[in-house]
Amino acid sequence: MSPRSEPGAGTPARGRFITFEGGEGAGKSTQIERLAGRLREVGLDVLATREPGGSPQAEALRRLLLSGAIRPLGPAAEALLFAAARIDHIDVMIEPALAAGAWVACDRFADSTRAYQGSGAIDPRLLDALERVALGGLRPDLTIILDVSPQIGLRRASLRRGAGETDRFERESVEFHETIRGAFLQIARDDPGRCAVIDADASQDEVAARVWRVVRDRLSPRSEPDRHGRKALV
Ligand code: TYD
Repeated sequence: MSPRSEPGAGTPARGRFITFEGGEGAGKSTQIERLAGRLREVGLDVLATREPGGSPQAEALRRLLLSGAIRPLGPAAEALLFAAARIDHIDVMIEPALAAGAWVACDRFADSTRAYQGSGAIDPRLLDALERVALGGLRPDLTIILDVSPQIGLRRASLRRGAGETDRFERESVEFHETIRGAFLQIARDDPGRCAVIDADASQDEVAARVWRVVRDRLSPRSEPDRHGRKALV
């Protein structure tokens, strides 16, 4: 759990950190937008962000990673670059937002490195070490894993892309994406206190309702008291 500072006078309570994970076409970005909207409705400040990327330097690394240019160097080199991007994203965007009391909803985070690069030929101790270095003490308060079958997910991703080019990971086989799905489900089994799996084959409205129930039940979002001492209850 990330350290939550005791608010002193004039210091906002530390925000909450929610990550969304899952395969291609799971609908993460849509669900993050919808969740961010609901959290803002109850008066919270929200930063919606994504990985790889989320800060200007990390977005530059994103272009490199998704182009496939790093692929020939192997999963260890890719994991290093994803971690480098993550360090900047945390330092420049995530930590300052949490410290200012904002809730942060992030499209992919360290579990994606575990699932994607960890499914390649890579020493698990390297992944552990990278996570320690990149994350420091930061840990998501909640990780929502949107579980979708690769057939449905890849079809959705292709519809969304239209005539655009596939990226380095969309070009992988259905078997690869099955492995990734299994890796995310294993992460959820290993850490049920942090993770919640939601079936994302359902309609967007249904998935949004399930996401909201999980966030409400686990994190009880409510805004700081207003100047009359009233809180916006959900
Ligand atoms: P993106 O277009 O954001 O895909 P999606 O909509 O599926 O999230 O591309 C991100 C890709 O990068 C995605 O295929 C997963 C991959 N990835 C990793 O392999 N390792 C990581 O640590 C992260 C954050 C992403």
